[in-house]
Amino acid sequence: MIRINDVHKHFRENYVLRGVNLEVNDGETLTIIGGSGSGKTVLLRHIVGLFHPERGTVEVDGVNLGEVAEEELQEVQKKMGFLFQDGALFDSLSSGENVAFGLRHQGLPESLISRKVAECLEHVGLSGIENIRPSELSGGMKKRVALARAIARDPKYMLYDEPTTGLDPIFSDVINDLIIHLQKTLKMTSIVVTHDLKSVYKVSTKIAMLLEGRIIATGTPDEFKNTTDPYVQQFLNGSSKGPIKLKIKEY
Ligand SMILES: Nc1ncnc2c1ncn2[C@@H]1O[C@H](COP(=O)(O)OP(=O)(O)OP(=O)(O)O)[C@@H](O)[C@H]1O
Ligand SMILES: [Mg+2]
Repeated sequence: MIRINDVHKHFRENYVLRGVNLEVNDGETLTIIGGSGSGKTVLLRHIVGLFHPERGTVEVDGVNLGEVAEEELQEVQKKMGFLFQDGALFDSLSSGENVAFGLRHQGLPESLISRKVAECLEHVGLSGIENIRPSELSGGMKKRVALARAIARDPKYMLYDEPTTGLDPIFSDVINDLIIHLQKTLKMTSIVVTHDLKSVYKVSTKIAMLLEGRIIATGTPDEFKNTTDPYVQQFLNGSSKGPIKLKIKEY
């Protein structure tokens, strides 16, 4: 399981995470919602060990990521797939080589690697594009290649940073179905950061809302739909009026 305990992180005078507490049990699909700039991506980066907390701890399967040696951190990172918000594909590699990237170090035979690459591309609706370079793909296609790369190693934990942003409604639903499929068949534990409420209600077993550096509410999709918390309500209703303070001009 993943246990986030009192995590703090700031950049200069920007206090982004101010005591985040969150637990993700094995087999769960947790979605994290919250305003743009509230720190969702920064939090995911802590969970994969790309950032370390200034205060507090991140534990994955009992390993405190801030305390372990680099090699042990890498062992933990092998259990995790991370779909970056911007895809982060290697432009110099073909799409197929991008998907194969994490498999190359496992000493697998070439035939197995190409079969796995084909299977993962099929999962995201991009069969047969192995030889096409990322620069020749649309934004949504790049995102799907990045997702294929992230799931190729069958990670125990999958972290998705806005997996459906930039995709049309039908492909967004394909990705939702894929997240559910991975949870059901491979018992993958997922953390999904998204602004896509349809996706939130469809894939989540648990939802958490990040506001002003803390998790202000957690619950099931039904609990969120019926919430009386004015902050959660404002966010889910997508209203510019309410208790959530925005640093912008009001009209
Ligand atoms: N490497 C960094 N250096 C300095 N500031 C950073 C860095 N990464 C993030 N921040 C700041 O941390 C805050 C949270 O950023 P983050 O990317 O986590 O937001 P987010 O919740 O993912 O937003 P969005 O929904 O727009 O993706 C922002 O104010 C951002 O400017
Ligand atoms: Mg983000």
